[in-house]
Amino acid sequence: MSSQSQPAGPRTGVRRLAAPDIGLRKGKTPIVCLTAYTAPMAELLDEHCDLLLVGDSVGMVLHGLPNTLGVTLEMMILHGQAVMRGSRRAMVVVDMPFGSYEGAPEAAYANAVRVMKETGAQAVKVEAGSTIAATIAYLVQRGVPVMGHVGLRPQAVLVDGGFKAKGREPNERQRILQDARATAEAGAFAVVVEGVAEALAEEITQALSVPTIGIGASAGCDGQILVTDDMLGLFPWTPKFVRRYADLRGEITRAVAAYAEDVRERRFPGPREVYFGLAG
Ligand code: KIV
Repeated sequence: MSSQSQPAGPRTGVRRLAAPDIGLRKGKTPIVCLTAYTAPMAELLDEHCDLLLVGDSVGMVLHGLPNTLGVTLEMMILHGQAVMRGSRRAMVVVDMPFGSYEGAPEAAYANAVRVMKETGAQAVKVEAGSTIAATIAYLVQRGVPVMGHVGLRPQAVLVDGGFKAKGREPNERQRILQDARATAEAGAFAVVVEGVAEALAEEITQALSVPTIGIGASAGCDGQILVTDDMLGLFPWTPKFVRRYADLRGEITRAVAAYAEDVRERRFPGPREVYFGLAG
């Protein structure tokens, strides 16, 4: 299907980007991506982003989980629905959570179809590798657009023993390059490349015919993604690869402290913040 043939949204009159649009951006203007989990945040990000990822990082960022392994399909669907409601133009991709796609391709398909039908999102993302390639092909051949994710794979944190950058050792480099190739050859429309040596990210970008989306990777990737809460300074800990564009944690702390003091000193509410006030 040509991206040109996609109709505008029935209620918005705005045509939402989809997998073919992202595919066409290979080697062109970098693709702007951020994570989103809620409708109000999606609304703020929509006009600036080409792609919003409902990442399973939601488990750590919003639900206080220690890693992404506890995230369920139901959580992803709920957040996917919210992001779809809040956005109009950006392509929305929903992460398949740990345990929902690694088994039989038929089970992965049933779960992916649930995500697509119940959220209305344009694609799903899987943490890919050579072992998942057959499942990616199975999904894509049946109408589910898939984004891959190679390099540092957060769902493999317990196997890897932590969130560790990859691609310094030649064997590991070869394996990640092979994962990326297998993912693209299976039909993924784009591949997230996370936490790898800069040279490897560039090698992968050159080797694939589909766009790479870097996170902790290289400015040479076809697009970039960050966890929105990280770049806004909302999360207490900032990984090395994140550039902080705001200090919302500091802003919120200052605002809440000021509110608490006003309440305790009976300065809030003031005369203009009450109905039919005594002050007239
Ligand atoms: O879950 C997530 O937010 C992600 C991004 C970090 C790429 O997978």
